[in-house]
Parts: sequence; C-alpha cells; structure tokens
Amino acid sequence: MSKKNQPKLRSQEWFNPDDEKQGFIHRSWLRNQGYPDDYFRGRPVIGICNTWSELTPCNGHLREFAEFVKKGILEAGGVPFEFPVTSTGETIMRPTAMLFRNLASMDTEETIRANPLDGIVLLTGCDKTTPSTVMGACSVDLPTIVVPGGPMLNGKYKGELIGSGTFVWQLKDKIQNEGFTPEDQVEAEICSSRSAGHCMTMGTASTMACMVESLGLTLPGAAAVPAVDSRKKVLAQLSGRRIVEMVKEDLKLSKILTRKAFENAIKLNAAVGGSTNFIVHLLAIAGRIGVELNLKDFDNLGSKIPLLVNLMPSGKFLMEDFFDAGGLPVVIKQMKEHLHNEAITVNGKPIGENNQRAECYNPEVIASIDQPFLEEAGIAVLYGNLCEDGAVIKPSAATPELMSHTGKAVVFETIEDFHEKIDDPNLDIDENSVMVLKGVGPVGYPGMAEVGNMELPEKILKKGIKDMVRISDGRMSGTAYGTVVLHISPESSIGGLLALVESGDNIILDVPNRKLHLDVDEAELKKRKAAWTPPNPIMERGYVSLYTRSVQQSHLGADFDFLVGKSGSEVTRDAH
Ligand code: FES
Ligand code: MG
Repeated sequence: MSKKNQPKLRSQEWFNPDDEKQGFIHRSWLRNQGYPDDYFRGRPVIGICNTWSELTPCNGHLREFAEFVKKGILEAGGVPFEFPVTSTGETIMRPTAMLFRNLASMDTEETIRANPLDGIVLLTGCDKTTPSTVMGACSVDLPTIVVPGGPMLNGKYKGELIGSGTFVWQLKDKIQNEGFTPEDQVEAEICSSRSAGHCMTMGTASTMACMVESLGLTLPGAAAVPAVDSRKKVLAQLSGRRIVEMVKEDLKLSKILTRKAFENAIKLNAAVGGSTNFIVHLLAIAGRIGVELNLKDFDNLGSKIPLLVNLMPSGKFLMEDFFDAGGLPVVIKQMKEHLHNEAITVNGKPIGENNQRAECYNPEVIASIDQPFLEEAGIAVLYGNLCEDGAVIKPSAATPELMSHTGKAVVFETIEDFHEKIDDPNLDIDENSVMVLKGVGPVGYPGMAEVGNMELPEKILKKGIKDMVRISDGRMSGTAYGTVVLHISPESSIGGLLALVESGDNIILDVPNRKLHLDVDEAELKKRKAAWTPPNPIMERGYVSLYTRSVQQSHLGADFDFLVGKSGSEVTRDAH
C-alpha cells in the first residue's frame, strides 16, 4: 500500500498534534525510556497488551514472549509499547476468575483507548485472559492480533498421559478406590505441570486459543503450538511484524469479526470438542463487536458437527499431540464443506486459503471428516420450565445412557450445602437421582463458578459408578466431563424456576428433544414462588456490587449490560 493511501495514524494526534505544547508533553516524558526522535514521527505505534502475571502461572512466560513480539514490530518499522492489564489466574482466584473477566475487559478497553496506540497485540493464555482482552479490544476496534501463549507440554505420570484439570476430577476416585497416597499426589502435581504454558487438555484455555484462531484473529496454526516450542517464539515475532502491516491496511477487528467468522468458530469448537465456556465468551465478544448471535445458534450450527479431535476431556490425547498431528489447520481443512472459507483473517487472507495445504500426521489424534470420532459433537441447548432462557450440555463429554433420564432431585441450596452433605452416608441419593445445585450463577456465586460438575457422593463412587445427571446455573471447567447440565438461565438467585426445586421432585432430562423439565404442577409451583425470597447478596460494596447489579444472564454471555457494544477509538479531549 502506498504511503499516501495509508490511514492517518491515531498516535500522531498525540505525538505530532497541531498544538506543539501537547506534542512536547506526550513525547518528552516517554523519552526518559530512551527513544530516538523517529519513534514519534509517523511510525505505527503498537501496544502489546500483556496478561503476564506470576499469579497467572499459565501466562508466566509471556513477559519474555513480549520481547519476540517487539522484535517483529521493530523489524516492520513499528514502535512497540508493552503494557500490563488485569490478569486472571484460573486456579488461584477466589471465588472464581470469571468474576473478574469483565473487569479485565474494562481495563483492556480503557487502556487501549486512552493511549497513543494504532494497533494491538494481545498476549493471552489462561482461560479468561483471552476473552477478556478480546472483548475489551472489540469495544475500541483497532487492528488487533492475538498471540496465544500456548499449552504446557503433555502431562506424564508413571508412564501415562495426565491432562491438566481432567486428572483432578479423577482424584477422589483414585484416593477412594485405587490406594492413591499423598506422595503419589505430590508426584502427580508436578507431572501435570511440566513446563510453561496453559492447560494442555482441550480445556477452556485451549478452547479459547482455537476460538481466536477460528475467528481469524491469529496467524494460521497459532493455537496448538506448545508454549516452550521455539516455533511459538517465531510466531510471536511474525505476529509483531504483521500487526504493523495491519495498521497500514486499517484491518480492524470489525472487518474480521463478521457473522461468518462467528459461525466458523462455533462449528470448529464442536469439531475440536471445545469447552462449554466457549458459549459465554463468544456471546460476550459478539455483543461487543455488534454481531447478532444467540444461544440457539450454538445448537443450530454446532450440534450436528462431527468430532474430529481426540483430546481429553472428551478423548484421550493432549495438546502437544494435537500440535504434532498438524493442529487446528488440519481440522479447518477437514471442515471446509461446513465453513465460510472466504472469511478474512489477520494475515489478510481467507481462512480456507490459509489452511488448504494442512496435512494430518496422526489420524488417531485428528480424524478425517468421513470417519469422525463421533457423528455429532457440538453443544446442545435445552429449554423447558427449568430453563426458559436456555441451558447447555456437552453431549460428547456425557454418558449416552443418561441423555434421556428421569430422576428424583437431590437439592443443594448453595455450594456450602453441597460440601456439607455430599458425603453424608445418610444423604438420600442413588445413581438415578438428579443432583441439583443452586446459587452458582452469575449473580448468585457471584461470577458463575465452575462447580457444575459436582463430585459424586463417596457411597456411589464406591459402587463403581462414575456419572450421574447433574444440573445447575453454574459452569464447569473445560477439563471436566459428565452428564452435566449447565448455565441454567434465568439463574436461581434472581428467581428462576431452579430456585423452586425441592428434593424428591421429578426432573426430566431429554437431550434428543432438547428438553429439561421440572415435573411439578403449576399450583404447587405458584405456592412455592409466593414463599420464595432472594438470597442475601454476598457483598454489598466495591466491584462485586457493580458486578451483581450489572451482569447479564449466561444466555447473553454474562457481560455487564453497560459494556455491550463499542465506543470506538476516538477521544477528543486531552489532559492538559
Ligand atoms: Fe490456566 Fe487451565 S488453569 S489454563
Ligand atoms: Mg476454568
């Protein structure tokens, strides 16, 4: 593109404004970091938005990574400025990292808009660090590229593959039934975290990495490259080079994130067996960029898509194997009949063209479209009196025999109630019961915690039973599995019908007909409703109070009502 046709750089409003006093102020203080004058004279200025934090171990390597991005930016003639944003460590933060996704998105949005930036590189990894930064960037809508930090190397314990997270859900059973000792546990802990990087199952972090690649927001093949593979550094460097070109081409997020890109992402998420968390995050991103998307789209577009990837928790391999087998490009190529191949990606080319030469190196890990691991893999969206605005289940992670099931409810009013009662030998529960957990939705927990995949009672595990129907208004970890109905909307804490379920009620789950029903007559429900009072808020000040007042229900992506949409990149007033 000739220089004449290039868009005017936003950063020049700061560095070369009409008012020279302002220009002096904006340049002079930055110079204390040692920049030559040409840094301020018309070179594209790129913000490297870094979610590095030692409290987000999955992103612990991103500080070093930024240097490779910077190298690429400088090589292409741009000027890099790295900045930190709120980082959300999935395994550490209480009560749940999801409570802070919207906060991190606000931080990202406001920092981008307030500063002299022309293009953005998002360095992401752990679950919420991808959607939060993408949501924030969408509300500003500058040219933006994502560099996913990459998964850890495969977990290996005593000769067997162990997947991050997925192993944790087996722990209770191992201690109960397989003589697993505290020493075994210490060993397993380090074996499942062998290197820098995020969870190496197809959990939420890997799902998010695949999501951004599917949306066209990364260079081709970025999602599966392990964090410690030298190719990841090359990718970071090339992304740095590319963002400078994207600024010159004015290739903004809204040009890439079209309805077609979202449809591709839904279909590819089904094909890789991605996490249910994908739903709330994709809905929130669509809301920011202004693309119509609703919960039904996930079922309509995704539920008939075959499963092509054999990774835990749905299958048996891990992300390193996925990378070695060819990664997401192979899936994209296999899925070409289903996708909008013409959707443009950050490298300026259509997604179909980018991946047309992909080759599968291990058919045990990535199946061909003619011989999938499962015929139908995506997410099923359920409706019924228990979930008027929807609920979701991931059939590929569930037990086929339980997909149509009627059972008596065993109700836990809160997460504390669950912990207190679950291993009580007198709890009236058997394998046909339906476990019901209330108060774990966006408002109720608060933050919609990943507690929906409740552990089974000891006495049932001892019988060798590994799965039961469980329903809640919460989420589950992308590394988890089971016949678990999640994201019930409206949630119990704001008076959804889930609030009225009592132990002993019959609950009908009918996934083939997309139904979840509480079999209690209207008059009785009316009586219960009249006696119902909402639970007291957990906290009444600070961010949590903003959160509970503003968060939307899960079927809308659990974004804040006032954050939906975008304000663009223009700021007319200056500080002086
Ligand atoms: Fe960070 Fe799983 S805990 S990606
Ligand atoms: Mg998680």
